[in-house]
Amino acid sequence: MITIAISRGRLMEETLNLFREAGFEIPGSFNRNLMYPVPRYSMRLLFTKDFDTSLYVENGIADIGICGKDVLLEMKEVDIYEIENLKFGRCYLVLAGSKNLEDLENISPLKIATKYFNVASEFLKSIQKPFKIIRLNGSVELACVSGLSDLIIDIVNTGQTLKENGLKILKVIHESTARLIANKVRYIQKYEEIEKIRRRLKNAIDKRMSFQIPKYERGKKS
Ligand code: PRP
Repeated sequence: MITIAISRGRLMEETLNLFREAGFEIPGSFNRNLMYPVPRYSMRLLFTKDFDTSLYVENGIADIGICGKDVLLEMKEVDIYEIENLKFGRCYLVLAGSKNLEDLENISPLKIATKYFNVASEFLKSIQKPFKIIRLNGSVELACVSGLSDLIIDIVNTGQTLKENGLKILKVIHESTARLIANKVRYIQKYEEIEKIRRRLKNAIDKRMSFQIPKYERGKKS
């Protein structure tokens, strides 16, 4: 039996689709069911909050899990293996605001709102200015629009939320995609089963990619 933690946020639909493309027959809807057995493949799915997925894996409640690199960067103390870049769910961790950095020179300390406290602390070390991080749980753009903060550090996917709130990207801090992660002990104990799932997911990704590369480019060495 392999227990898989699946992040319930923006990656969930694409994660389930990848499993389907990899040949696992998974239902279309789970309602509010947070633990779902799939006996046919000796699998059990746990639906976890994005920032909790790696904790379920680290503590061995789940053997493997799928979450964004953005979350792994933030939860940097969590001790897991990152075993595959699943390449979907691309987004960027950015510094954003309504004004350019030069226009904020006289403000001290700079107030930066974010859900990514550790990422922000690390990044802001490079800024030679006093700063204060305001830790929020969501709708981070509102902090900047309402005046709670001068800047934000948040993820951007389509850019629509920034645009609709009159904000712009000032600096890209990290790129993020979905990652397959594994509990360190279980990866050894259940190596064959976990690797089988990893290979099937990887093949499904490679198949996706091959549809995106023009035929004459396929097989060329990069
Ligand atoms: C995320 C992020 C941005 C938005 C970016 O929020 O925090 O607000 O998505 O997406 P976009 O570039 O496609 O507009 P999410 O929807 O995860 O919810 P949250 O505001 O509660 O964090």
